Amino acid sequence: MAEDLQIPSGSREEKYAALFPQIQGLLVGENDQTANLANIVAAIKEVFGFFWVGFYLVKDGQLVLGPFQGPVACTRIPFHKGVCGHAYTIAETVIVPDVDAFPGHIACASASKSEIVLPVKNQAGEVTMVLDVDSDVLNDFSIIDQQGLEKILGLINEAWQ
Ligand code: SME
Repeated sequence: MAEDLQIPSGSREEKYAALFPQIQGLLVGENDQTANLANIVAAIKEVFGFFWVGFYLVKDGQLVLGPFQGPVACTRIPFHKGVCGHAYTIAETVIVPDVDAFPGHIACASASKSEIVLPVKNQAGEVTMVLDVDSDVLNDFSIIDQQGLEKILGLINEAWQ
Protein backbone atom coordinates (compact mmCIF):
# COMPACT_ATOMS: atom_id res chain seq x y z
CA MET A 1 0.00 0.00 0.00
CA ALA A 2 0.97 3.65 -0.26
CA GLU A 3 2.84 4.82 2.80
CA ASP A 4 1.21 8.26 2.97
CA LEU A 5 -1.68 8.62 5.40
CA GLN A 6 -4.79 10.40 4.12
CA ILE A 7 -6.43 12.05 7.10
CA PRO A 8 -9.25 14.62 6.88
CA SER A 9 -9.29 17.68 9.07
CA GLY A 10 -12.24 17.38 11.40
CA SER A 11 -13.18 15.93 14.74
CA ARG A 12 -11.03 13.43 16.55
CA GLU A 13 -13.76 10.84 15.96
CA GLU A 14 -13.59 11.46 12.19
CA LYS A 15 -9.83 11.11 12.29
CA TYR A 16 -10.03 7.75 14.09
CA ALA A 17 -12.59 6.62 11.48
CA ALA A 18 -10.24 7.61 8.65
CA LEU A 19 -7.17 6.14 10.34
CA PHE A 20 -8.67 2.73 11.09
CA PRO A 21 -8.81 1.31 7.52
CA GLN A 22 -5.38 2.73 6.77
CA ILE A 23 -3.85 0.91 9.72
CA GLN A 24 -5.66 -2.20 8.50
CA GLY A 25 -3.89 -1.63 5.18
CA LEU A 26 -0.53 -1.20 6.87
CA LEU A 27 -0.88 -4.56 8.60
CA VAL A 28 -1.91 -6.54 5.53
CA GLY A 29 0.82 -8.93 4.46
CA GLU A 30 3.13 -8.06 7.35
CA ASN A 31 3.33 -10.28 10.40
CA ASP A 32 6.46 -8.87 11.99
CA GLN A 33 5.46 -7.51 15.39
CA THR A 34 8.11 -4.81 15.62
CA ALA A 35 7.36 -3.49 12.13
CA ASN A 36 3.62 -3.34 12.79
CA LEU A 37 3.91 -1.73 16.22
CA ALA A 38 6.35 0.84 14.82
CA ASN A 39 3.99 1.83 12.01
CA ILE A 40 1.00 2.02 14.34
CA VAL A 41 2.66 4.42 16.78
CA ALA A 42 3.96 6.52 13.86
CA ALA A 43 0.47 6.72 12.35
CA ILE A 44 -1.17 7.73 15.66
CA LYS A 45 1.51 10.34 16.32
CA GLU A 46 1.27 11.75 12.80
CA VAL A 47 -2.51 12.04 12.81
CA PHE A 48 -3.11 13.43 16.30
CA GLY A 49 0.23 15.05 17.16
CA PHE A 50 0.23 13.61 20.66
CA PHE A 51 3.34 14.28 22.76
CA TRP A 52 4.36 10.63 23.10
CA VAL A 53 2.93 7.39 21.68
CA GLY A 54 4.46 4.00 22.37
CA PHE A 55 4.22 0.41 23.46
CA TYR A 56 5.61 -1.23 26.58
CA LEU A 57 5.98 -4.99 26.10
CA VAL A 58 5.67 -7.61 28.83
CA LYS A 59 9.16 -9.11 29.10
CA ASP A 60 11.19 -10.57 31.97
CA GLY A 61 8.39 -9.94 34.48
CA GLN A 62 8.12 -6.23 33.75
CA LEU A 63 7.10 -3.72 31.07
CA VAL A 64 9.93 -2.95 28.65
CA LEU A 65 9.95 -0.05 26.18
CA GLY A 66 8.99 -1.05 22.64
CA PRO A 67 8.40 0.94 19.43
CA PHE A 68 7.52 4.56 20.19
CA GLN A 69 7.40 8.08 18.78
CA GLY A 70 8.38 11.05 20.90
CA PRO A 71 11.10 12.00 23.37
CA VAL A 72 13.29 9.31 24.93
CA ALA A 73 11.49 7.48 27.74
CA CYS A 74 12.08 5.21 30.71
CA THR A 75 12.94 1.73 29.50
CA ARG A 76 11.55 -0.54 32.24
CA ILE A 77 8.41 -0.23 34.38
CA PRO A 78 7.59 -2.72 37.17
CA PHE A 79 4.06 -4.17 36.96
CA HIS A 80 2.99 -2.30 40.11
CA LYS A 81 4.31 1.14 39.08
CA GLY A 82 2.88 4.07 37.15
CA VAL A 83 -0.14 4.37 34.92
CA CYS A 84 1.26 1.66 32.64
CA GLY A 85 1.66 -0.77 35.52
CA HIS A 86 -1.85 0.03 36.73
CA ALA A 87 -3.37 -0.64 33.29
CA TYR A 88 -1.39 -3.89 33.13
CA THR A 89 -2.54 -4.95 36.60
CA ILE A 90 -6.25 -4.25 36.16
CA ALA A 91 -6.13 -5.27 32.45
CA GLU A 92 -8.36 -2.33 31.55
CA THR A 93 -7.90 1.01 29.84
CA VAL A 94 -6.89 3.82 32.20
CA ILE A 95 -7.50 7.49 31.38
CA VAL A 96 -5.63 10.03 33.53
CA PRO A 97 -6.89 13.61 32.97
CA ASP A 98 -4.12 15.13 35.12
CA VAL A 99 -0.97 13.08 35.60
CA ASP A 100 0.06 15.12 38.66
CA ALA A 101 -3.08 13.90 40.43
CA PHE A 102 -2.34 10.21 39.74
CA PRO A 103 -0.46 8.65 42.69
CA GLY A 104 2.66 6.89 41.40
CA HIS A 105 2.62 8.42 37.92
CA ILE A 106 6.04 8.00 36.32
CA ALA A 107 7.06 11.31 34.76
CA CYS A 108 9.29 10.47 31.80
CA ALA A 109 8.88 14.10 30.65
CA SER A 110 7.56 17.11 32.55
CA ALA A 111 5.63 18.26 29.45
CA SER A 112 3.25 15.32 29.75
CA LYS A 113 -0.04 16.47 31.31
CA SER A 114 -2.60 13.75 30.61
CA GLU A 115 -2.38 10.14 29.56
CA ILE A 116 -4.29 7.09 28.31
CA VAL A 117 -2.95 3.55 28.64
CA LEU A 118 -4.61 0.55 27.00
CA PRO A 119 -3.77 -3.12 27.56
CA VAL A 120 -3.33 -5.52 24.64
CA LYS A 121 -4.42 -9.06 25.45
CA ASN A 122 -3.66 -12.35 23.73
CA GLN A 123 -6.26 -15.02 23.02
CA ALA A 124 -5.81 -16.41 26.53
CA GLY A 125 -6.75 -13.00 27.92
CA GLU A 126 -3.23 -12.29 29.20
CA VAL A 127 -1.88 -8.76 28.82
CA THR A 128 1.12 -8.94 26.50
CA MET A 129 1.78 -5.20 26.10
CA VAL A 130 0.28 -1.80 26.78
CA LEU A 131 -0.14 1.20 24.50
CA ASP A 132 0.71 4.46 26.27
CA VAL A 133 -0.34 7.80 24.76
CA ASP A 134 0.70 11.05 26.48
CA SER A 135 -0.54 14.57 25.76
CA ASP A 136 0.94 17.92 26.71
CA VAL A 137 -2.65 19.16 27.20
CA LEU A 138 -4.61 18.55 30.41
CA ASN A 139 -7.68 16.31 30.13
CA ASP A 140 -7.00 15.51 26.46
CA PHE A 141 -8.44 11.97 26.36
CA SER A 142 -12.03 10.75 26.39
CA ILE A 143 -14.13 7.75 25.52
CA ILE A 144 -13.62 8.71 21.84
CA ASP A 145 -9.89 8.00 22.19
CA GLN A 146 -10.52 4.87 24.23
CA GLN A 147 -12.86 3.46 21.58
CA GLY A 148 -10.68 4.54 18.64
CA LEU A 149 -7.48 3.15 20.13
CA GLU A 150 -9.11 -0.06 21.38
CA LYS A 151 -10.40 -0.67 17.83
CA ILE A 152 -6.87 -0.19 16.48
CA LEU A 153 -5.47 -2.58 19.10
CA GLY A 154 -8.07 -5.13 18.04
CA LEU A 155 -6.60 -4.94 14.54
CA ILE A 156 -3.16 -5.68 15.90
CA ASN A 157 -4.35 -8.90 17.45
CA GLU A 158 -6.13 -9.97 14.28
CA ALA A 159 -2.90 -9.55 12.35
CA TRP A 160 -1.07 -12.02 14.60
CA GLN A 161 -3.65 -14.59 15.52
N1 SME B 1 3.83 7.91 32.46
C1 SME B 1 3.97 6.47 32.34
C2 SME B 1 5.40 6.10 32.07
C3 SME B 1 5.75 6.01 30.63
S1 SME B 1 6.05 7.49 29.92
O1 SME B 1 4.93 8.39 30.10
C4 SME B 1 6.44 7.34 28.33
C5 SME B 1 3.47 5.80 33.61
O2 SME B 1 3.18 6.47 34.59
O3 SME B 1 3.38 4.58 33.60
